[in-house]
Amino acid sequence: MTVREEFDAWATEGRDRGMEDRHWHTAKHALARMPVEAGDRVLDLGTGSGYAGRAINDTTGALVCGLDGSPEMAQNARSYTDSDSIGFLVGDFDHLPFADDAFDHAFSMEAFYYATDPHEALAELRRTLRPGGTFYCAVNYYEENVHSHDWQDSISVEMTRWDMDEYRDAFRAAGFHVAAQDTIPDRETEIPAESEFPTDEFATREAMVERYRTFGTLLTVGVVP
Ligand SMILES: C[S@@+](CC[C@H](N)C(=O)[O-])C[C@H]1O[C@@H](n2cnc3c(N)ncnc32)[C@H](O)[C@@H]1O
Repeated sequence: MTVREEFDAWATEGRDRGMEDRHWHTAKHALARMPVEAGDRVLDLGTGSGYAGRAINDTTGALVCGLDGSPEMAQNARSYTDSDSIGFLVGDFDHLPFADDAFDHAFSMEAFYYATDPHEALAELRRTLRPGGTFYCAVNYYEENVHSHDWQDSISVEMTRWDMDEYRDAFRAAGFHVAAQDTIPDRETEIPAESEFPTDEFATREAMVERYRTFGTLLTVGVVP
């Protein structure tokens, strides 16, 4: 299946809102760190329901573009806001339909690793961000998070599983400085009592605690020189 087929189906089934609920737990902490100012132009890469763009627009007054490869996702996202300073566009990470230096900042949550060629996607981000611009890249699927390793089995789109070093190396190879990298724990996902394990997803309570409270979301921040 293509990105479009896979995620159009998710959007039609309403899974965009489910992702929003889950991802917000850690995405909001990444968003809070972004140095966005009123009037800045911000790209939300793989916008899904568009919640990150709405939050950026609401809290800073920035102009936001949410890009997604799924027309159904983009259409849903459009319907969730009437702000005329947020736009939604269908496009692919590897060929961003924007001029050089078009954005001041970019954000992406749980989307970057779906790029057909993540190195090319980073090169495109580097090209479309102005000097001094930042890319906040948040992912839950990464090598150190052993509890994410089987996620590829349930989705037909190929996913790239880098470790923390590989993220930093790839950002540098694309011409970014790496300004920061850390993991953001999810303290909101409810963890049931010991007696409820095993669950469908976790063999032990310890494993679930590790997945959410220890590993959480990997954030890598790149800055264009
Ligand atoms: C797991 S969802 C995450 C959505 C949202 N950022 C969130 O946090 O809920 C990944 C999104 O990225 C989009 N996507 C995946 N690969 C893409 C690609 N190569 N080009 C454009 N969009 C892509 C999908 O259509 C989907 O909406």
